[in-house]
Amino acid sequence: MGKRVLIVGNSDGIGLALTKRLIDRGDHVLGVSRSDVASLGAQHRQHQLDITASGFYEKLCEFIAADQVIDVAVYCAGIGEPFGTSGVAADTDTIRVNFGGLADTVRAVLPGMRERKKGQIIGVSSIGDLASASAPAYGASKAGVTAYLRGLRRPLGALGVRVSVVRLGFVATKMAKSDFRPFMITPDAAASVLLNVVDQAPASKTHPWTMHVLTRILSPFMA
Ligand SMILES: NC(=O)c1ccc[n+]([C@@H]2O[C@H](COP(=O)([O-])OP(=O)(O)OC[C@H]3O[C@@H](n4cnc5c(N)ncnc54)[C@H](OP(=O)(O)O)[C@@H]3O)[C@@H](O)[C@H]2O)c1
Repeated sequence: MGKRVLIVGNSDGIGLALTKRLIDRGDHVLGVSRSDVASLGAQHRQHQLDITASGFYEKLCEFIAADQVIDVAVYCAGIGEPFGTSGVAADTDTIRVNFGGLADTVRAVLPGMRERKKGQIIGVSSIGDLASASAPAYGASKAGVTAYLRGLRRPLGALGVRVSVVRLGFVATKMAKSDFRPFMITPDAAASVLLNVVDQAPASKTHPWTMHVLTRILSPFMA
């Protein structure tokens, strides 16, 4: 019997690639996204839900209760626009989807994991989890994701729940909008990184390291 994995944000990009890889190896996926996803068979169940809609947390709890056991929760949902396109108008949604929805997801899965004294929570963050003049809300939301999950690691570890943050560089999805995308990897390569995190549960995984080093060098000029 494979693991039962909740993935929030799995209709496209990295989340969809991870969904397919988990199913291929015998795990079960409970997916959540706004768009529908064509059925991938008996190991796959999908729900349509908007993280920004009121009642997101309550609906997520209902889906989890119907599925009964979640071994692993992966928060993969994300949005991000360059600052120039909308000013600060879209920032509330960016912070809500990238960070607020993660907090709701942790809150929804924790009671079951706590009761069973085991479970795993993984969040997809970014190597760009720092101040950014080109995408301030995205950088801030990802800084929140990284800090929140790193902070949860010890207290939830004491309850038997392992927490990991995955910091990715550019991945070739519709989210990678920059003209300059060094060291970009495919969604399937990103899914491989996440699968490894599902299996090893490190506190933190940063990939690729070359992008991390480049970002650290450039960070004084980013904001
Ligand atoms: N691509 C990159 O270069 C890159 C780099 C570092 C980190 N990341 C992170 O990786 C994660 C996945 O991104 P991706 O590149 O795979 O992007 P993507 O292809 O655009 O996928 C984003 C996913 O989030 C879901 N989502 C967005 N808004 C939602 C909402 N309001 N309610 C429910 N689901 C919502 C989307 O589903 P629906 O639209 O169907 O709702 C989709 O499944 C994000 O957290 C992103 O920040 C990406």
